[in-house]
Amino acid sequence: MAESMQGLKRTHRCAELSAANVGETVTIMGWVQKNRNKGGLVFVDVRDRSGIIQVVFEEGKSEAELIEKAARLRAEFVVAVVGKVEKRSGAVNENLATGEIEIIPEQLRILSESETPPFPIEENSRTKEEVRLKYRYLDLRRPDLQRNLMMRSKVATLTRQFLADERFFEIETPILIGSTPEGARDYLVPSRIHQGHFYALPQSPQLFKQLLMCSGYDRYFQIAKCFRDEDLRADRQAEFTQIDMELSFVDVDDVIEVNERLLAKLFEEVLGLDVELPIPRMTWQEAMDRYGSDKPDIRFGMELHDVTDTVRDCEFAVFKGAVENGGSVRGINAKGQGGMPRKKIDKLVSFAKDYGAKGLAYIAVQEDGSLKSSFAKFMKDEEMSALVAAMEGEKGDLLLFAADKNKVVWDVLGALRLELARQMDLLDKNEYKFLWVTEFPLFEWSEEQNRYTAMHHPFTMPMEEDLEYIDSDPGRVRAKAYDIVLNGNEIGGGSVRIFNPEIQNKMFEVLGFTQEQANEQFGFLLTAFKYGVPPHAGLAYGLDRLVMLMAKEESIRDVIAFPKVKDASDLMTEAPTAVDPKQLEELGLAVVSGEE
Ligand code: AMO
Ligand code: AMP
Repeated sequence: MAESMQGLKRTHRCAELSAANVGETVTIMGWVQKNRNKGGLVFVDVRDRSGIIQVVFEEGKSEAELIEKAARLRAEFVVAVVGKVEKRSGAVNENLATGEIEIIPEQLRILSESETPPFPIEENSRTKEEVRLKYRYLDLRRPDLQRNLMMRSKVATLTRQFLADERFFEIETPILIGSTPEGARDYLVPSRIHQGHFYALPQSPQLFKQLLMCSGYDRYFQIAKCFRDEDLRADRQAEFTQIDMELSFVDVDDVIEVNERLLAKLFEEVLGLDVELPIPRMTWQEAMDRYGSDKPDIRFGMELHDVTDTVRDCEFAVFKGAVENGGSVRGINAKGQGGMPRKKIDKLVSFAKDYGAKGLAYIAVQEDGSLKSSFAKFMKDEEMSALVAAMEGEKGDLLLFAADKNKVVWDVLGALRLELARQMDLLDKNEYKFLWVTEFPLFEWSEEQNRYTAMHHPFTMPMEEDLEYIDSDPGRVRAKAYDIVLNGNEIGGGSVRIFNPEIQNKMFEVLGFTQEQANEQFGFLLTAFKYGVPPHAGLAYGLDRLVMLMAKEESIRDVIAFPKVKDASDLMTEAPTAVDPKQLEELGLAVVSGEE
């Protein structure tokens, strides 16, 4: 039977005790980690969020009744122990922060019993994630997840402190809104009162934070829940959290400057790491040319080489064809991989095909200087040598080439570069390399929609020097948009916003919005801008992604208390669920498809 804690007050958390407490009588409360009964001698490890301490029930030191009670304890029982801290009589446990000491108990209360948990509550669990997520409340007891969530809390607290000191105001924006144009699918919420009408959950607070600038708050921030109905991946959730901010009377450099100091503070106080400021910057064009990615991982080299000019006149149809179609031929040099077995190279070829390549041509430079290649027969010897030289190929190198439209070549080699880095063990989790990627294209051509779409969002300011091309060659216009990238992950992004109605209208025109459509979707913003809008700019971080990297985790699920799985369901609550027909009736809805 569960006992009450009446009359007891916790004095310490388990692992906050140390040799300095020897001789003190303390009261701890927590969960039984394990219990070893050696007959008349019972060792009980008690755990709370701080860690573990050993309690020793021993004949001669504790009453027999107490020892018997301790022997009944099982894993995950909740107990209170009153006892004296002593130096360990046995060997010191180097693996435990409290390894030098133990508690000799005077009182033991069983506050709560536990059934045998479906998996052991321990670090580095090998239990399948589905099981852990079904019993997430138990999973969250594990020290690794507890450390992650405590780190997340610390990041949020430090962010609030820092931004408050920088004179930002924390302002909440609504969750039930009309749709915002971030480009993903909206989650819709039906209205009971206005049947047939729907709220959308915000994909970000974008429009509201811009309105707050119109309202004169000058500097806003929010740790905001955002919702996007997109395919989930290791770094994407249906609902996720942004550190969102907006500033008035600023340009690109001002936003970057304050955010660099924020990042430096977080890394220093949470990880004890020095972020060297200023963080390097690279234009989007340079990032694509050198790394084939707009979020390059710059912890390692293996940069792309553009060999279009070298192969322009060769007879190899694959290369020639790509050049003639306005594309390019580029390659990467996997240093020291020239001896890679054919089977492994074939795997790289199919990896490249998964990223849209039609093939992957290679040259393996042998130790004797000879070349093994998938396309040598189409090339003259001197063309091959020129190609190897252009790739800075040396004995033992593997040179890999993609030939296609630029976008395909970048995608393929960008992904291949990362894959090779993984295989070659070039990625050091303890190294943090930040990079600002700037001057993104303003528009992106969508084959699907046969029109330009906004690369960031329709309120992003074009670079002044490119405005002249907005009619004649929209694809050439660069934006005052920036992403902050960490180890190949986009952890945040933002832009300077348009505050000039003519530019905004031009933007809508290129995007194919009629004036009516623009008014229908963003009329309130456009109207607000008629009443004195300050120049403004902002940025939002993905908090989950940032903490994931700080915690050196592979998945953002490991830094979210109650995450969803790939199909956006919650394995614990089983949401989404079917609802009572009465609820549907009230909303004026009928389900026409789908499973019950
Ligand atoms: P953006 O769409 O780039 O910009 O989002 C900002 C950051 O949010 C994170 N993020 C996500 N994290 C987890 N799961 C997701 N599904 C997900 N989607 C995005 C990324 C990203 O860099 N309103 C603009 C910001 C601005 O212009 O101020 C915005 O939302 O880390
Ligand atoms: P093929 O003539 O189709 O046998 O191709 C010769 C070599 O070129 C093979 O190694 C193919 O994988 C490679 N290849 C085919 N298409 C491309 C491409 N678009 N880019 C790079 N290599 C390619």
